[in-house]
Amino acid sequence: MCGIIGCTGVKCAAKTLYRGLEDLEYRGYDSAGIAVLDCGGIITVKRKGRVAALLPAIEELGGTTGIGHTRWATHGRPSDANAHPHTAGAFSVVHNGIIENYAELKKELADEGCTFFSQTDSEVVVHLLNKYYRGDLKEAVLSTVRRLRGAFALCILCKDYSGFVAVKYCNPIIVGTGGGALFAASDMPALCGLAENVAVMQDGQIAFAAEGKITFCDFSGEAASLTFSTLPVSARPARLCGFPHYMIKEINEIPAAIKATASAFTSENCAEKLARIQKKRGGFTDVVVCGCGTAFHSALAAAYCGEELLKIPVRAETAGEFRYRKSSAGAGTLFIAVSQSGETADTVEAARAAKRLGACVIAVTNVAYSAITGVADVVIPVRAGVEICVAATKSYCGQIVALALTFASLCQSSSALKSMLKELKTLGAACSAAITDCRVEDVARACASSSGVYFIGRGMDYPVALEGSLKLKEVSYVPGEGYPAGELKHGTIALIDGGTLTVAIITDKTLGEKTASAVEQICSRGGRAAVVCFKGCAPLSLKERAEFFIEVPACSACLSPAVSVIPLQLIAYRTAVILGRDPDKPRNLAKSVTVE
Ligand code: G6P
Repeated sequence: MCGIIGCTGVKCAAKTLYRGLEDLEYRGYDSAGIAVLDCGGIITVKRKGRVAALLPAIEELGGTTGIGHTRWATHGRPSDANAHPHTAGAFSVVHNGIIENYAELKKELADEGCTFFSQTDSEVVVHLLNKYYRGDLKEAVLSTVRRLRGAFALCILCKDYSGFVAVKYCNPIIVGTGGGALFAASDMPALCGLAENVAVMQDGQIAFAAEGKITFCDFSGEAASLTFSTLPVSARPARLCGFPHYMIKEINEIPAAIKATASAFTSENCAEKLARIQKKRGGFTDVVVCGCGTAFHSALAAAYCGEELLKIPVRAETAGEFRYRKSSAGAGTLFIAVSQSGETADTVEAARAAKRLGACVIAVTNVAYSAITGVADVVIPVRAGVEICVAATKSYCGQIVALALTFASLCQSSSALKSMLKELKTLGAACSAAITDCRVEDVARACASSSGVYFIGRGMDYPVALEGSLKLKEVSYVPGEGYPAGELKHGTIALIDGGTLTVAIITDKTLGEKTASAVEQICSRGGRAAVVCFKGCAPLSLKERAEFFIEVPACSACLSPAVSVIPLQLIAYRTAVILGRDPDKPRNLAKSVTVE
């Protein structure tokens, strides 16, 4: 979801911004652009496509101050004209978010004589700035932000100001200082190697960065202050380190993500924090686990495991549905928000909605300084490290571990938590074995030539089936569905023919026999079948019946998705590569969706 960056006081603004944009590109890659202050004017370069498309055009750019943008299109298709920065009069602006009242503002401004060059909602911001500018930059910015509704992180250049202005409302922006220069960016990794000290801006704040100094005020114009701290080592941007893509690199990092997440749970006293809040609340009557995309799938898996451990109703819901539903959640509810980025608008708003209903809110997130942590009563860390590939892999496994430990702590049986922590000591090795031993090439070839790929499972294997299907669709664009194995015969079986492939996931012996019947039904109708199972779990007959058979090491049910998902991630990755897709930057997607 759009990445923005600003800098002032650097040697060459264009080169600095370009480097930062490369690290922000995972947030959107429909177009990119840079504007610099040079010789008293603003020079803008913007192009449809990836950040690299800017390179030839920025070679000649001078200036020590500038702003940059990498876009995930919301309003207006990807094009040069719709690319940011939007420049008019004395100003240039980059924007992350959505201006919800842009249509009425655009009409007002057009009636006043402004010419619009793009179909974006963002362009109204630059015209508003010009409208309100009478030589006082602060006044112009304040008047502008007070007219905007929606979500916006902005970086602004004004030809009469030697630095840049950053504005934060509902979308993230971090400011930084280092080597006499000043910076702002949508996330910390983009500031690595540039800033030494950083501060996370709060909603409703404006930063004026110029001449080696940053001052802050709020939307009423009152001075505000922010505490800077050293840029954390964990925010270092990831590099490929010899891997062809981030997706396969990050799959290989699953064992480390599991280990780090389990050890952070212990070192950050999460069990104690959970016990305290549980006691303070007098226990919980029900639990809602919420997230979007892959995070919703880990929420769903955790709900199966949580209900078994807590013996109270535990349900999973997509955040986009929860936030607008008349939910019965209340003071007795524990609401667990799951989000890799911690910035997904639907998830953050769902958590706020749960809080308004009186629920206790826990955030399970991979980003320690993200928006969701500001809403939560307790934060449970996922320590997967920076994840670059748009399709989540290692963060999913980290979420499974963090959520399982959370439920094991809440069930107040010290043996449940102890045995889970003990098992986690060897889970990394099971994952490593799955990563190195799984032979997925033939299945990936079958996926690549299939008209549809259906993933089925029962119990804990059903959420994994959903995740396997999502992964394949995201990175290879091969259509399909994830389905509860028992439901297949109630409709989707109509789609099965010789051109389709069904992947059955089996990690439980008893349920495995039931899933095996579904595979029989598919094969009898000419469909091709693959089985992904825990060692010793699948009925013998299935080995002969299925065209492809992949075994991974077994583990306990609550943690099983962290292992059984690996072959599915590998299948999705290889299918994408076979079909010539870029698995790291799938079309139409962005890693962090900070708008509705
Ligand atoms: C986007 C990404 C998905 C991700 C989802 C939730 O849609 O493309 O890969 O699972 O957002 O992101 P979060 O950061 O909240 O886990």
